[in-house]
Amino acid sequence: RDIEILGVPLELGAASRGTLMGPDALRTAGIARALAGLGHHVTDHGNLHDAPLADVAMDPEAAAMCRFLPEIAGWVRTIHARSCEMAARGGVPVFLGGDHSISMGTVSGVARHCAAAGRELAVLWVDAHPDYNVPSTSPSGNMHGMALAFLAGEPVLASILDRPVQAVARENLHVFGARSIDPGERARLRAHGIDVVDMRQIDERGVAALMAERIARWQQKAVWLHVSFDVDFLDPEAAPGTGTVVPGGATYREAHLVMEMLSDAGLVCSLDLVELNPFLDTRGRTALAATELVASLFGRRVLDRQPGATAAA
Ligand code: ARG
Ligand code: MN
Ligand code: MN
Ligand code: MN
Repeated sequence: RDIEILGVPLELGAASRGTLMGPDALRTAGIARALAGLGHHVTDHGNLHDAPLADVAMDPEAAAMCRFLPEIAGWVRTIHARSCEMAARGGVPVFLGGDHSISMGTVSGVARHCAAAGRELAVLWVDAHPDYNVPSTSPSGNMHGMALAFLAGEPVLASILDRPVQAVARENLHVFGARSIDPGERARLRAHGIDVVDMRQIDERGVAALMAERIARWQQKAVWLHVSFDVDFLDPEAAPGTGTVVPGGATYREAHLVMEMLSDAGLVCSLDLVELNPFLDTRGRTALAATELVASLFGRRVLDRQPGATAAA
């Protein structure tokens, strides 16, 4: 496949500084080499530059709760245009964050392309957090915690983009790996009927069964699947290099199984890899883990096993 990498060194949406080094750490970990080694044609477009501040016509009370709103909206608008362009070119856009607020631009850009191309878009939000806060429910004001709410078409956040938002249908939003949800956020997820797989379900039923159900639905609808992968999905033991670690996360193998199943299904058309903070990492462990996971997503296998086949006798 034609994989197009774009680095998005944004850090102002997160509580701690340092995700701006994420794209470069992932390059150092060898992400482009790993993908090329799997036979893909990889183009690295380098990093997006600092975007100009944006004028955001948001309700002032809500705007006051959004930290770095003009900066982030400026980035989101620039990312959106690039993402839409990359999606239209026909390759597989891979966005290297950057904090999770970049997804307001990456996914909305992909959504615009899908609407124009008549494709149904589904989003798999692999994350310890659903990022479904609105300004009035956010305990922190950090905009990475509002990214999925924006993509769902939350009206109060719509003016972050300077054109109408192509919202992702609520039935096509899937959160996977949740274990830290704010009270107001939980209420809205429930009211909107968003599919949220929390860590308890993963413990009880396992990644394989949960993913298989969702993959079957996506295949039936032949969706364009965008995976938004926040490295804090992983347990802090496996991925210490991120600003909002939450104990009780996915194991290294659980995360790989998600990627391997998605790869077999052949559904993934675009990807975000976000929230890596190299300043907090331990000898590159998180950057390396993320790189290995992306390799699994794009076809790396331990054994040369065909999808669905059992081990040879
Ligand atoms: N729910 C918290 C908040 O809104 C944490 C969000 C963390 N998000 C992330 N992308 N790591 O502030
Ligand atoms: Mn997140
Ligand atoms: Mn998170
Ligand atoms: Mn577990």
